[in-house]
Amino acid sequence: MPTTTWNRHHILSLADFTADEYNAVLQTAASFREVLSRRTKKVPTLQGHVVANLFFEPSTRTRSSFEIAAKRLSADTLNFAAATSSMTKGETILDTAKTYLAMGTDIMVIRHKEAGVPQAIAQEMDRLGVRVSVLNAGDGQHEHPSQGLLDLFTICTLINPENPRLELLQGKKIAIVGDILHSRVARSNIWSLIASGAEVHLAAPPTLLPKFFADYLTPQVNTDKFFTHWQLAPALENADFVMTLRLQKERMTAHLLPSLREYHQLFGITHNQLQWCKPNVKVLHPGPVNRGVEISSELMDDPEFSLIQSQVTSGVAVRMALLYLIGSGKV
Ligand code: NCD
Repeated sequence: MPTTTWNRHHILSLADFTADEYNAVLQTAASFREVLSRRTKKVPTLQGHVVANLFFEPSTRTRSSFEIAAKRLSADTLNFAAATSSMTKGETILDTAKTYLAMGTDIMVIRHKEAGVPQAIAQEMDRLGVRVSVLNAGDGQHEHPSQGLLDLFTICTLINPENPRLELLQGKKIAIVGDILHSRVARSNIWSLIASGAEVHLAAPPTLLPKFFADYLTPQVNTDKFFTHWQLAPALENADFVMTLRLQKERMTAHLLPSLREYHQLFGITHNQLQWCKPNVKVLHPGPVNRGVEISSELMDDPEFSLIQSQVTSGVAVRMALLYLIGSGKV
């Protein structure tokens, strides 16, 4: 394991992550990726620790990925699903969290449809003076730090598999396309990509990329490297990587698009659109995918361009790294 100093107790957002922290995650994840390639894919690092996955909103890959990551580190895992829990009997979120605390939980991995819930639980744990760490696994439209970090790891390991580092993205052009307004993935990715020195181009129709969105980023963001477009072409032109986003219909409160077909015609990513990009461009998507809407089925399944499966694989190593960094030293 690389010798890194890590002082962060909770991981709630990437907004204030430092270059050293990004590199600690990337280097640690690279070590765990090596562990995952061994015949015995398990290490005793978090033996005796309890990791509780508190998912108040549906999830396939993030929840399973945190679970397998915790198991590969030999932690004991508790899985909670809101629909089958005592919340259906009126128990509050904080009381649910305190119940898991009383069972000896060391790390709470929390997903909720409302922004700020992981932070509220983290504050309550701090107020109680307990050494429980909280990891935000996606809160409303706010942030999804572990997804941002696994996207970063996927891209950096593609550029340099042996030594993935933040600086490798300096000067690269990265387009983020789609439902930016509702996307916590985009918000986390913007922080990490800007910190890396990449050029970040957002593209979406005005209803999904309102003018005020750019204000959200100031004052920390170096706006020389941050661009917004209401057309696809300028964002894709000479891009090295294209990050596509799901149309998050469950978060739309108004009719923001004429039709899915028109959206696909104007903003859907297909092999055709990639002609504007660099020849060796790669495409990412956090999943789940609406096939044929934000990305064509053919492109999604084309291993020459698509990094989607590799993102899922990277997710396990990155989440092992996060659990290790915040969890080791607790017992
Ligand atoms: C994302 C999420 O839930 O925020 N998916 C994921 O975690 N892999 C993106 C999405 O739902 O579109």
